[in-house]
Amino acid sequence: MSEVRMEKLQKLDQEILERLIEIYMSGYENMREYGGEGESYAKRYLRWCWNKAKDGFFVAKLGDEIVGFIVCDNDWYSKYEGRVVGAVHEFVVDKRFQGHGIGHKLMENCLEYLSKYNNRIELWVGEKNEGAIKFYESYGFRKVGQNGIWVRMVKDLRKDDKEWKDS
Ligand SMILES: CC(C)(COP(=O)(O)OP(=O)(O)OC[C@H]1O[C@@H](n2cnc3c(N)ncnc32)[C@H](O)[C@@H]1OP(=O)(O)O)[C@@H](O)C(=O)NCCC(=O)NCCS
Repeated sequence: MSEVRMEKLQKLDQEILERLIEIYMSGYENMREYGGEGESYAKRYLRWCWNKAKDGFFVAKLGDEIVGFIVCDNDWYSKYEGRVVGAVHEFVVDKRFQGHGIGHKLMENCLEYLSKYNNRIELWVGEKNEGAIKFYESYGFRKVGQNGIWVRMVKDLRKDDKEWKDS
């Protein structure tokens, strides 16, 4: 999978939106309680992500095909922190392409981007989504709370830290 490229999404037209919905629905195929609630929800949610965090909306591409994306917001008011932090609103790789390192590349891109603006990142993950929780922990995210089925995780960034993984 060495030919995977990371790009900032330039526009969200109908064709791209449909592809992102497909990825979202397939990525969460085995955990509908945490994503992929339905296509019309996905459409609204992904449009919301685009409007909220255009500058940090990164896609992974294999050739011309988008195979995964991460939405990184550098201006998120966290009511739990009482301040603005960085946030990962969505992170998903097409089921067919999971497990090949694409998620790592997207996350590295995201951390590099958010570290320019924020010194803390917040995200929410489903409590039974053990694979993703382990993935986040390997990047230094830690569980700090829970609301219903959602676990809140945070990571502190040091701006001069280039060695993201296991930091
Ligand atoms: C989480 C996700 C984006 C990772 O993308 P990916 O391309 O599969 O990740 P990579 O191949 O780069 O890395 C795989 C790592 O993630 C872990 N992982 C995360 N979720 C996993 C899952 N559902 N199944 C298997 N492994 C998973 C693996 O243990 C592996 O760890 P390792 O590198 O130590 O071996 C992807 O699994 C996904 O889209 N999951 C569904 C959506 C989701 O849960 N998003 C996060 C919600 S907050």
